[in-house]
Amino acid sequence: MTSSRRHHLKSLMLQIAANMLVAEAAEAEAEKANYMAENCPALSMPDSMQELQDLCKKLHQSIDKVDEERYDMESKVNKTDKEIDELKLKVVDLKGKFQKPVLKKVRMSADAMLQALLGSKHKVNMDLRANLKQVKKEVKEEEKEAVGDWRKSIEDKAGMGGRKKMFEADA
Ligand SMILES: *[C@@H]1O[C@H](CO)[C@@H](O)[C@H](O)[C@H]1NC(C)=O
Repeated sequence: MTSSRRHHLKSLMLQIAANMLVAEAAEAEAEKANYMAENCPALSMPDSMQELQDLCKKLHQSIDKVDEERYDMESKVNKTDKEIDELKLKVVDLKGKFQKPVLKKVRMSADAMLQALLGSKHKVNMDLRANLKQVKKEVKEEEKEAVGDWRKSIEDKAGMGGRKKMFEADA
């Protein structure tokens, strides 16, 4: 991929993300308006002492209810915050423990490698030779460079994808 294409894709993704943020903000605003319309209808001022007392009682009940909901949500948030903190600690811990293994080049023929991986129940050799006939020229040309890299060698010999699929499914 060229760097200008990479750059283009990146700005496309940023543009899409920006649009999503705008849409999300509009949605939150609409949700808030809906909630307010449902839960906070316009106040009609009471005409008498009795109506005023009723209104006060109702308001008190609403306050209690809302406060209960607030408490429940706050405990949920606290619980989730705690989980987030624990997970962050785990991430730090795992990062400290992970060591990149040093990979060595393996000098091994593809046949030997496949047999070591798949076991003797697979007739790897014979099947591979059948495939080899179809790609003989190709393999010969690439033999030299393939020696040091058994993966390349296996991919070539697997040819046509069939052997390779079997190999991946069993691995
Ligand atoms: C949530 O955490 C805050 C700060 O740690 C604390 O003050 C509050 O009492 C907690 N709330 C609940 C409902 O546990």
